[in-house]
Amino acid sequence: MNVNRTIQTLDEFTIQQLRDFPNATGELSNLLRNIGLAAKRINTEVNKAGLVDILGDAGNINVQGEEVKKLDVYANDQMVRVLQHGISCAGIASEELDDFVAFDDEKSVKSKYVCLFDPLDGSSNIDVNVSIGTIFSVYPRVTPVGTVVTKEDFLQPGIKQVAAGYIVYGSSTMMVYATRRGVNGFTLDPSIGEFTMSHPDIKCPETGKMYSVNHGNFFEYSKPVQQYITACQKKDKTNGGPYTQRYIGSMVSDVHRNLIRGGIFLYPGTTSKPKGKLRLLYESNPFAFIVTVAGGKATNGKIPILDVVPTELHERTPFFVGSIRMMEELETYLQNT
Ligand code: AHG
Ligand code: MN
Ligand code: MN
Repeated sequence: MNVNRTIQTLDEFTIQQLRDFPNATGELSNLLRNIGLAAKRINTEVNKAGLVDILGDAGNINVQGEEVKKLDVYANDQMVRVLQHGISCAGIASEELDDFVAFDDEKSVKSKYVCLFDPLDGSSNIDVNVSIGTIFSVYPRVTPVGTVVTKEDFLQPGIKQVAAGYIVYGSSTMMVYATRRGVNGFTLDPSIGEFTMSHPDIKCPETGKMYSVNHGNFFEYSKPVQQYITACQKKDKTNGGPYTQRYIGSMVSDVHRNLIRGGIFLYPGTTSKPKGKLRLLYESNPFAFIVTVAGGKATNGKIPILDVVPTELHERTPFFVGSIRMMEELETYLQNT
């Protein structure tokens, strides 16, 4: 049999990384593996999303008499389940749940990590076949191993993350994750059901041609943000403008594209929602970590996102993230706020 050994699976990669750290326990590798497993299950359901009516969605009951769950609830259940049954996670917090969940069984309390996630990002796009994603963030707990985790373990500034990543369910399904050592991307090979290395050592280009923002809110943005957006549209830019505007409305897909191609993503505060829409713990922090490790930058318009000390699980924040030079240019406008 002809086996292609140039491919490297997600599991092989995380285990290989461990070898450089003789004292590592393998818990983080195990956690990433579990997230990969949840992602494969979510992917299968996401791919069937358009069939819901055909399969008999009468109210909330399908033809098998099973309850048809909203995909974001399904995705949340899968994430909770794999993490609860794994050996590396002491508790989770999710965009879909009001409060964090502490895993209080004997095995879980001995785990050193907590995981925070947005199980399905861009879920309003599901019905129209647009790419969506899952976002996750991993922190070492601050309470002692052996005890049940508390809120304190979840309310840590993003700089404390040990890993963060996302899965994009797009034209192919991809998992990208970052540790302090770098950012790597794995594409799901459906023929073998494995995430395989496709984008090693991702670096965010220093500059790019794309800006991503919801233009519909333009008149609700602050003057400096409006001025920056207007500058993005001008021909006389010294740095190669006008830029191209791209906004899918699934942050995972928008930021993934900008990370690979170079670009900037903005979700500013508005007059009606001064803190914007995005959630610090489940959306902004993981992307701030990934893009920063890749050489880009992320701020709330005033300070680095990773330095913000959270006070509530579901708090929102204005969010600006992208290529370093484009972020620096944006900051020359925001200085005037
Ligand atoms: P979610 O589906 O988890 O609620 O998040 C959607 C988010 C994000 O993915 C996207 O960038 C943003 O909402 C789009 O919001 P607007 O429609 O307000 O631009
Ligand atoms: Mn989201
Ligand atoms: Mn969501």
